[in-house]
Amino acid sequence: MDFSTKPFDAKSNLASGKTACIVVGIYENKKLTAEAELLNADGAISAVLKSGDVTGKVGSTLVLRNLTGVAAERVVLVGLGEAPTAKAAHAINNTTFSKIAQAAAQSLAAISATDAHITLTLHAENLNAAIRSMVLALRATAYRCDGLKSKPETVTTGVKKIVFAVYGKDQARAKTSLTQSVALANGIELTKQLADLPGNFCTPTYLANAAKKIATEFKSASSKISAEILDKKQCQALKMGSFLSVTAGSDEPPKFIVLKHMGGKAKDAPVVLVGKGITFDSGGISLKGGLGMDEMKYDMGGAASVLGTMRAIAELNLKLNVIAVIPSCENMPNGRATKPGDIVTSMSGQTIEVLNTDAEGRLILCDALTYAERFNPAAVIDVATLTGACITSLGHHNSGLFTRHDATHDALANELLAAGTETGDTAWRMPIGEAYNEQLKSNFADMANIGGPAAGSITAACFLERYTRKYTWAHLDIAGTAWKSGAAKGATGRPVSLLTTFLIGRAAA
Ligand code: BES
Ligand code: MN
Ligand code: ZN
Repeated sequence: MDFSTKPFDAKSNLASGKTACIVVGIYENKKLTAEAELLNADGAISAVLKSGDVTGKVGSTLVLRNLTGVAAERVVLVGLGEAPTAKAAHAINNTTFSKIAQAAAQSLAAISATDAHITLTLHAENLNAAIRSMVLALRATAYRCDGLKSKPETVTTGVKKIVFAVYGKDQARAKTSLTQSVALANGIELTKQLADLPGNFCTPTYLANAAKKIATEFKSASSKISAEILDKKQCQALKMGSFLSVTAGSDEPPKFIVLKHMGGKAKDAPVVLVGKGITFDSGGISLKGGLGMDEMKYDMGGAASVLGTMRAIAELNLKLNVIAVIPSCENMPNGRATKPGDIVTSMSGQTIEVLNTDAEGRLILCDALTYAERFNPAAVIDVATLTGACITSLGHHNSGLFTRHDATHDALANELLAAGTETGDTAWRMPIGEAYNEQLKSNFADMANIGGPAAGSITAACFLERYTRKYTWAHLDIAGTAWKSGAAKGATGRPVSLLTTFLIGRAAA
């Protein structure tokens, strides 16, 4: 898909522009936007609004053809909801913009036009959200994961070339928005591709190669990016006894992936992103039930979103040091697998009684969190499909955000929450603390790997917290947000928008 911007000019862009299609906003209550007004020479648009053929409500669309005085063959009307009042500025919120963009993208995917001009209220206050929502929606609508079908589904229709018509003084801002949006879309798409790929293809080795590929693709004179892959022996030498206890029952070799994007000054402390990379979670000896177990191929959603984020910031050549750390293995049962009751020693030296081998995410993450200490990080953010309990708490709308409760961590939490809100990739902060920590007590080791049925996502976070006391840290539980179940089964690409926006903010600060 080819995206560009150009100055909005009522006459040349709308009335006589040589394009197959113009996308224009209309309001509820039968009001026209200024752009729709320009195409309404013969009253055709007011007529369809009056007749009720299109409501103007958010999500409504209608394709009109061959309007008098309009060179473009089609005009796609897209409902923007209620018209602004005379005084209030018209800023549509991000969630609403996503809905508008999805409706527009679906409409554009269904017509036979291959190029379109988009004029959806690209005013100053809406500019960034409008461009990002449209780019993400168009790319998401075009996304297919059918490479493993013997005959890929043929998609013949769909717009390939999109021009955003932007009001006068906003050209530079629009270009920046577009560059960032396309990089974000590329990152999200990589995340979805990796996560949708099943465990017999997407192995730890496959993830390691994906990291190497990002490093090779974006290596240039001006960008310092490199990948380092540690194998089982190197992890043994580092005494990653907790990580290695999870891979014990699998024939697939584990990989510990480190991808560095050193876009900042050499001395600047990096942001470290740690991603859970379980390429299949059977539960191990604490075997899961069969129903829906296929979805545990998504248990590397944290790793996939970290790699997607790295791809986005590498493409942007972001002026910030960011290091991805991804412990990756399978969680499988066999004769050498870790057993409930086994005690393992983590890289930090703390010992863990493995009461449930299905609580494996924290076992691989704790060693990665200890490994992260060597980078003297400005902040460490781990991302993991960690607990079913997080889905019970927050459903599929918000990722769970956990940090310590002090001024430094409150600031980090707010930064992450704001980045999520800005892009509609929202998170919700949850508590951790001493009372919950009690639940991790073990009779035989420094801690147990589970804290009982109550507050499961919180005790999981408390477990991780014990390995992060040397730096500023936050944990995102994306069990409910990384993929969709049911008929529309598939990866969502979350929380790449949140992470990338957070990092863009850090680079600007
Ligand atoms: N990968 C799962 C968490 C998960 C479950 C993510 C369902 C998405 C959907 C994790 O490794 C796990 O199995 N967690 C257990 C922890 C329990 C044994 C304390 C869980 O949530 O049941
Ligand atoms: Mn598990
Ligand atoms: Zn898991």
